[in-house]
Amino acid sequence: MQNIILMFFHLSAAAVALGALVFGALIIRPVIKKSEEKASLEESLEHKLMDRLAPTVLACVFVLIVTGVYYLLVNYTDQVNLKEGYYNIFGMKMLFVVATLGLSVYQTFGLRARISDLDLRPENKKQVPETLNSMAYTGHMILWTLILAIFFGVFLARF
Ligand code: HEM
Repeated sequence: MQNIILMFFHLSAAAVALGALVFGALIIRPVIKKSEEKASLEESLEHKLMDRLAPTVLACVFVLIVTGVYYLLVNYTDQVNLKEGYYNIFGMKMLFVVATLGLSVYQTFGLRARISDLDLRPENKKQVPETLNSMAYTGHMILWTLILAIFFGVFLARF
């Protein structure tokens, strides 16, 4: 039962992260950008969208890592004598997990920090358009590394 609950949270976190990125970065952001050409960027929906999308995805990645590591710890003894190649797939998956985590940490703590508390740091206001674009591009990169991590996760579970 424990494994089912762990994989339920593991899969749900993957689904929320994937869904948030597809809807936020690919579907709604272009619509918002078009409809808000004249709006002040600090007050814009795009600013609010990226400000919330980054930590949402990072939280999902943390849930994935905690449930994945815990799954391995509680099933470690079962994770031996696996078919040849299991850990090659696992290694490939971890490459994309590390890339997803690195990009998501950069998006949340590197870029998002530049669009936060603009009233306290008005000098950052002129960087907002560029930073929002960087956050969207980073979001696209996270989307691809996440999709590949999910693919290798599903491959792993059925190997
Ligand atoms: C971006 C991060 C991650 C994503 C998107 C991800 C995604 C997935 C997916 C989609 C599955 C398939 C579940 C199923 O079909 O039942 C899975 C299984 C699994 N994941 Fe992850 N995962 C991530 C991180 C991790 C980490 C960090 C670990 C451990 C260090 C891990 C360990 C596992 C294990 C052990 C399984 C089950 C494989 C099996 O049944 O043998 N995952 N993962």
